Amino acid sequence: MAVVIKNVAIVGASGTIGAPILKAIIESGKFNVSVLSRIGSKATFPPSVKVISVDATSVDSLTAALQGQDAVISAVGHEGFLGQSVLFDAAVAAGVKRFIPSEFGSDISNPNAAKLPVFGPKIAIRKHIEQKVKAGADITYTYVVNAPFLDWGIEVGFLLDYKEGKPRIFDGGDVPFSATSLPSVGLATVGVLTHYEETKNRQVTVNDIVITQNQLLELAKKAAPQKQWSPIPTKTSDLLEATNAAFGKGDHSVAVQYIFVAMFAEGYGGKLENVENELLGVPGKTLADLEAIYKRILT
Ligand SMILES: NC(=O)c1ccc[n+]([C@@H]2O[C@H](COP(=O)([O-])OP(=O)(O)OC[C@H]3O[C@@H](n4cnc5c(N)ncnc54)[C@H](OP(=O)(O)O)[C@@H]3O)[C@@H](O)[C@H]2O)c1
Repeated sequence: MAVVIKNVAIVGASGTIGAPILKAIIESGKFNVSVLSRIGSKATFPPSVKVISVDATSVDSLTAALQGQDAVISAVGHEGFLGQSVLFDAAVAAGVKRFIPSEFGSDISNPNAAKLPVFGPKIAIRKHIEQKVKAGADITYTYVVNAPFLDWGIEVGFLLDYKEGKPRIFDGGDVPFSATSLPSVGLATVGVLTHYEETKNRQVTVNDIVITQNQLLELAKKAAPQKQWSPIPTKTSDLLEATNAAFGKGDHSVAVQYIFVAMFAEGYGGKLENVENELLGVPGKTLADLEAIYKRILT
């Protein structure tokens, strides 16, 4: 008989991506939703959500909290990455059918991206999950790959650093890359839960748009013609070398720089191939949508 996911638990549901995933899951109207919140967390949630306080370091506490759940979505930030193997083991012990670890970013199935140290913890949880499933654990998994967040990435200046008007423009600025808005990542996650068989034990890819930095710069200039722009041409090969040097000396604050390599350097899979928007129910965005964001933040 086909598996139907009905009871869904989310960890990290108050976070940048956790909150929009929670919203999309509630709004789908298809699931009973629980949030697993760390003991002492100050986060608040809508009344339709059951909030369960857990000791996120304890398999026993998590196993008890996950009784009766069909799917677990982890949206923990990097502080929570190491705890995901405990969460996964608890999900297996509780009889959960689908585990979605905290990915929601670059395509780490790309062999070059996989070697970037920033993705080490994500590779480690993939290995943990796949080893356990291979060894007979009665659970399935899906990795959601959506490249950088589109709306968030524009607003915080991650895709194009507009605030000082001095964005780093990588490798000439005409490199096409994928990006997906927070609400669309939420829709894609719902799409995984509603397509159990099609999304079983694999990575799914989604994007709202494929765009270049030069296109974003044009949109930003159009929205704020009075603003002074002094782009900084930057080679990803130089960035990779400098980041490796600093990281090698123990400066882990540079780790985020590796993500720009994954987005823009040739051979790192920044433009996602064979996206599954149709399967996952993600309509995508247009240049006009992005122009509206720039108008909002720049005027
Ligand atoms: N594609 C992109 O552009 C992009 C950008 C940013 C992040 N991401 C990815 O999205 C995922 C989530 O990141 P985020 O930035 O959304 O996270 P975040 O905003 O930092 O959210 C962290 C959430 O995890 C919980 N949490 C924090 N520490 C934890 C711990 N030690 N154990 C368990 N839970 C903990 C917090 O919940 P409580 O404090 O309420 O318990 C909070 O809700 C990550 O995989 C990240 O790499 C992708």
